[in-house]
Amino acid sequence: MATMEKSIIPVKEGDFNLADYEKTAKEFRWEDAEKEFSWYESGKVNIAYEAVDRHAESFRKNKVALYYKDQNRKEAYTYGQMKRMTNKAANVLKAHSTLDKGDRMFIFMPRSPELYFALLGGLKLGTIVGPLFEAFMEGAVFDRLDDSEAKAIITTPDLLERVPVDRLPKLEKVFLVGENIEETDKIVDFKKHLKEASAHFEPVWLGKEDGTVLHYTSGSTGRPKGVLHVQYAMVQQLQTAKWVLDLKETDVYWCTADPGWVTGTAYGVFGPMLAGATSLIVGGRFKTEEWYQAIEDYGVTVWYSAPTAFRMLMGAGNELIKEFDLSSLRHVLSVGEPLNPEVVKWGLEVFDKRIHDTWWMTETGAQMIVNFASMPIKPGSMGKPVPGIEAAIVDDQGKVLPPNSMGNLALKKGWPAMMRKIWNNQEKYDSYFLNNEWYVSGDSAYMDEDGYFWFQGRVDDVIMTSGERVGPFEVESKLIEHPAIVEAGVIGKPDPVRGEIIKAFVALYDGYEPTDELKEDIRQFVKKGLAAHAAPREIEFKDKLPKTRSGKIMRRVLKAWELDLPTGDLSTMED
Ligand code: WTA
Repeated sequence: MATMEKSIIPVKEGDFNLADYEKTAKEFRWEDAEKEFSWYESGKVNIAYEAVDRHAESFRKNKVALYYKDQNRKEAYTYGQMKRMTNKAANVLKAHSTLDKGDRMFIFMPRSPELYFALLGGLKLGTIVGPLFEAFMEGAVFDRLDDSEAKAIITTPDLLERVPVDRLPKLEKVFLVGENIEETDKIVDFKKHLKEASAHFEPVWLGKEDGTVLHYTSGSTGRPKGVLHVQYAMVQQLQTAKWVLDLKETDVYWCTADPGWVTGTAYGVFGPMLAGATSLIVGGRFKTEEWYQAIEDYGVTVWYSAPTAFRMLMGAGNELIKEFDLSSLRHVLSVGEPLNPEVVKWGLEVFDKRIHDTWWMTETGAQMIVNFASMPIKPGSMGKPVPGIEAAIVDDQGKVLPPNSMGNLALKKGWPAMMRKIWNNQEKYDSYFLNNEWYVSGDSAYMDEDGYFWFQGRVDDVIMTSGERVGPFEVESKLIEHPAIVEAGVIGKPDPVRGEIIKAFVALYDGYEPTDELKEDIRQFVKKGLAAHAAPREIEFKDKLPKTRSGKIMRRVLKAWELDLPTGDLSTMED
């Protein structure tokens, strides 16, 4: 703890948006925030209606909801046009499948306007939408569609080969987004029908506890798990969009996350659109110049990104920045991994902006611990709980620990955006909660005497690489499918840019030589079988891996070896 920088960056005048945090934290009740929504009076709930139609029926009808930009396209859609396009999408999905309330529908494609039409159209139809990151390969796609018994998927001709349609008996329809699609009884040309479809659609009305999005995410053991969120999450997503993103009517907001990850839905779609804001979406891969150019071209005022991206921009040097006019930026935020104090300092230097860290998880569905625009920042700290959220550091029995003690970062059960289900796995869901009172995050942290929370690390073996959450078990399972590999252990190794990189230790079958070619072959094998971001950057050959007597790979021993740390208690290790 002593190594952490504790200096405070004060608030600049005019930054205030939450006049009295302490008072709000004491008095605020989530029920107070329900009045914002039309269902508060009508009783008819649909998050896509609140995010799109409500604004289309208001003075925001001709306000831009979405700017979209990539290498080939540059488009803008007003709230009025978003209503039409999402209605059309809902009509296409409905006309060409038996998709109905509560059915699972997946979206597996790179960012494009159609992705957003499909996502919101699916929600208007009452389906549960599972967004998949485009880098996933066949095995990862299969696991998710199989586990959730998906009825439909929306994808592109390029990605179709990674959807094992024949092995998914429940999968009724594949909607393809592309040109000159050849339709079959399974394949539907999404864009063609989108053009022809009616722009009228009455949203399917749901209850507050009905499902919205299903995000699969990784733990340290087992297959990825399906985290289900519900309609009621919108209460927290809107409230935090106002408090934390500090969105105002004239802002141009840019969230850099892909909707395949929770940040890309909760704050790439729901938060800003519930608030009636204008969002920019930039498709394609990260490129320093293009990112700066996007800020200048669109006059981005509020920017939500991740430490890895900031570190990559930082690595590109401060000279480059001078070529762009970034003076539109008003409020900058970060999520996904620890935000290093150096990065905060860099932000002050080059944008003259404090970068505001926010902490939350796929499972929490919305921001939980944050640096408000109105708060002095302690660089290195994640900030304070959002009003209405009770966070604490607890021991393994659920006892709340005093300030400055390290322990489990826990949240009092029952906030609006809390996941309601792990798909098909009640036992896993229950295992998150201690004494039916505390949700235990899997992160360790401490709280200082001023109520600021400081991240210390993961309690489990989950790897955060470039802000993406990877379960070591998934990678290990894939590794041992490789013909040369007997056993494998995977850890996160600290990395100055990516936070962590994936490092694999593998033992080979007799007859295989530990060569560099084999390493590359193994890397490609994981890349093709799972996802590019899940492939180990480093591979080390070992004769044998440290295991418990029951045969479990001891990752903590691998980590200790890697980092030259003491290995701790080895009594459970086999001889
Ligand atoms: C980590 C992303 C430090 C943490 C929204 C958490 C962070 C996991 C921060 C969730 C932060 C997220 N500082 N670590 N500000 N934000 N994390 O589910 O370990 O992809 O448990 O959700 O990311 O990752 P997930």
